[in-house]
Amino acid sequence: MPAEGQKLAVIVGMSGASGAMLGKRAIERLLELQVPVVATASAGARVVWQEEMPEPFPEALARWQEQPGFTYYPVGDLKAPIASGTYPSRGMVVVPCSMGTVAAIAHGLSSNLLQRAADVCLKEGRKLVLVTRETPLSPIHLENMLALARLGVTILSPEPAFYLHPRTIEDVVEFVVERALVALGALPQLGDHLTYHGPKE
Ligand SMILES: Cc1cc2nc3c(=O)[nH]c(=O)nc-3n(C[C@H](O)[C@H](O)[C@H](O)COP(=O)(O)O)c2cc1C
Repeated sequence: MPAEGQKLAVIVGMSGASGAMLGKRAIERLLELQVPVVATASAGARVVWQEEMPEPFPEALARWQEQPGFTYYPVGDLKAPIASGTYPSRGMVVVPCSMGTVAAIAHGLSSNLLQRAADVCLKEGRKLVLVTRETPLSPIHLENMLALARLGVTILSPEPAFYLHPRTIEDVVEFVVERALVALGALPQLGDHLTYHGPKE
């Protein structure tokens, strides 16, 4: 339970969609903003992380755990505080969010800690932002996302802001994470540090 006067935590769930670097950057950006983070990662997220990231997940986790504002619970830990509505949080971002996790949240399955924490946000009327990634999208994916959007969930796909002329994947990641944190209410507006690379000469 957060101490009195302490900022409420943002829950970050990482699932097995492509885009592990989005989850990494979301955690690190929140910690930079001194927002406490409670994180969990599905088994799928760890498989994707291994495919996409140069640093092994346990090493990244150990680095984050050196920061006082960071807490991690294994996805099988259904007794973790974020599995209950009595644990106050600012809301949750699932980044990246797979179609499997979208389906589970849309249907209230709560079969792991990530899904249960999202279900808690829905039942408690807290902010829930899903950085969904899949292409193309089937009618099942679209219907599940529509059902969640109608409940007030923000569906935010990690699309580049072409108008900012991003030069690197990191530019795209920064923009998407910033958008997600604004949607969550953890940032008042898009950060000034986003770089606009003007059109090519
Ligand atoms: C390298 C890799 C990339 C994947 N990318 C996606 C993706 O972008 N979107 C998606 O819905 N599933 C993707 N998957 C499949 C999910 O990881 C898989 O459906 C998994 O069971 C999802 O479980 P989770 O939501 O509990 O993490 C990917 C799997 C791998 C191995």
